Amino acid sequence: MRIDIITCLPKLLDSFFGHSILKRAQEKGIAEVVVHDLRDYTQFKHRQVDDYSYGGSAGMVLMVEPIDRCISTLKNEREYDAVIYMTPDGKTFDQQTANRFSLFKNIIILCGHYKGVDERARQALITHEISIGDYVLSGGELAAAIVSDALIRLIPGVLSDETSALTDSFQDSLLAPAVYTRPADYKGMIVPEILLSGNEKEIEKWRFENALQRTKERRPDLYDKFTRENDPDAK
Ligand code: ADE
Repeated sequence: MRIDIITCLPKLLDSFFGHSILKRAQEKGIAEVVVHDLRDYTQFKHRQVDDYSYGGSAGMVLMVEPIDRCISTLKNEREYDAVIYMTPDGKTFDQQTANRFSLFKNIIILCGHYKGVDERARQALITHEISIGDYVLSGGELAAAIVSDALIRLIPGVLSDETSALTDSFQDSLLAPAVYTRPADYKGMIVPEILLSGNEKEIEKWRFENALQRTKERRPDLYDKFTRENDPDAK
């Protein structure tokens, strides 16, 4: 998968993609993340990419022209499956969307800034508008990093234990069960005995029941959804 991220703050993303799993995925050639500075695509003086909002509301708006020039340059080089704009008024990102997007070969992610981007850029160039939650960040860079991380870790070969992405919280609408490592007894806090038993079938059963219980306590909305979807009597 190749992810092209367009931003006016490219340095903000360097360190994020230069570490851990994301770095390894790029070294293995499984994923490629290319960050583009929107200012390289403007024809205005002082590398200007934003301007005042028509009608006079507060805040600056990213201009359509440099966005168009950048996206058009990329589209001339290869085909893209999606051009995503990170914005708080987009569709809320979730695991299902991550699963779907992780199958894409090439995507562009545009980071907004200031008061957003000119509506014409959204209408003419963007295929998906994505929010990471109901709060407003000062730019789309962190949101783009979060979405990229969620997609890249799903690509086969990125995680060392291939099954672990499948057992994440949310993959089957349940939160993940509790996990433990050594020691088995820490200051009198004991690891559930079944996990030490070696009985895979019983361990699987314990994990499922623990996941169910945790979801019921912490996310009753997800629990209701899970029980509805798994009710054999439901239509
Ligand atoms: N840009 C600013 N806030 C955002 C959010 N919540 N999600 C995605 N992009 C954003």
